[in-house]
Amino acid sequence: KRRDDGLSRDLYQLMEEANNYYRSQLRSHNDRQKVLDYLDLRGLSQEVVDKFGIGFAPDGWDGLLSRYRNNQDAQDKLLTGGMLIAKDSGSRYDRFRDRLMFPIRDRRGRVVGFGGRVLGEGTPKYLNSPETPIFHKGNELYGLYELKQAHRDPQKVLIVEGYMDVVALAQFGVDYAVASLGTSTTADQFQLLLRNAKEVICCYDGDRAGFDAAWRALETALPLLKPGDQVKFIFLPQGEDPDSLIRQIGKDAFEELISNAKSLEAFLFDTLTEQYGTDKGNFAKQAIVLIEKIQDTVLQNLLLEQLSHKLGMNNADDVKKKLGFNAKPQQPMSSNKGLKGRGT
Ligand code: CTP
Ligand code: MN
Ligand code: MN
Ligand code: MN
Ligand code: MN
Repeated sequence: KRRDDGLSRDLYQLMEEANNYYRSQLRSHNDRQKVLDYLDLRGLSQEVVDKFGIGFAPDGWDGLLSRYRNNQDAQDKLLTGGMLIAKDSGSRYDRFRDRLMFPIRDRRGRVVGFGGRVLGEGTPKYLNSPETPIFHKGNELYGLYELKQAHRDPQKVLIVEGYMDVVALAQFGVDYAVASLGTSTTADQFQLLLRNAKEVICCYDGDRAGFDAAWRALETALPLLKPGDQVKFIFLPQGEDPDSLIRQIGKDAFEELISNAKSLEAFLFDTLTEQYGTDKGNFAKQAIVLIEKIQDTVLQNLLLEQLSHKLGMNNADDVKKKLGFNAKPQQPMSSNKGLKGRGT
């Protein structure tokens, strides 16, 4: 799908150069002390900053641009790559200014985009690369390249919301987390993860948005699960995210949470129970809608079996007969489209 023509190759090179520029600014810019102070405040070590190639985009309109003053061709490509913005007048300026820069690498390790965090308060908190010929937010996972460097064949992968979560977890030794670059994990991202590991554990922020993201993740994952795949869920204490929590409780306690992660079945039934309480009719109806999405018949039957017990029936066949369960396989879904969250 991705074209690997001359334009793209040069663009990859320029993105790498931009990353090198941001890294060098972190080492030598006059304003670097405030960045070092911010890294300190966030508790990020030099080692993890280097591991993830974190840098600093200085304030000013032409820090990156000025390096390509006499190279119109490079400027054009940096514009295509989302690193520069063009004014109506045609003149250009740096997109990322006065921000901590997280390079986003594709599976092959090529820098394809950036997330830039404001140093302290300010909006937007994160500024991300726009969609470009080489960067599609819904297809990339922040930290996957770094994870694969550490674990060629990971058994489990943790999926979290943010850059800081991935980096903080890695610093504490939980070096198998990736971020979905926003709160909803797409079908493409799930498929990519399940190709790399048998067990995917969703660990979103301990707030309403994080819970809703987990529910959307469940709906997205159901049609994709193959025999042997496991998707599990961790729910963090209110107000915490993986970054804040691991700093409080440490690696061992955090990994304890991982080993006690909730199964997909438990999350599904618990949530429906909470929502419908004693209204068994709607409970069953909603459960069936979800179970019908499952392609893996072993998992599907397991859920039907569990549902039958919750409804006081004997077994899965009972559910099929009494509730008119449609056992025909559904079309696998290829994207999040059409799946509704419960509102944020
Ligand atoms: N995000 C974004 N733009 C924003 C806010 C969030 O792209 N304005 C994305 C970022 O990838 C961010 C993730 O959503 O990392 C999770 O958002 P949030 O929980 O608000 O941020 P944190 O990752 O916790 O960042 P920090 O700890 O620095 O506040
Ligand atoms: Mn390891
Ligand atoms: Mn959040
Ligand atoms: Mn955070
Ligand atoms: Mn967060």
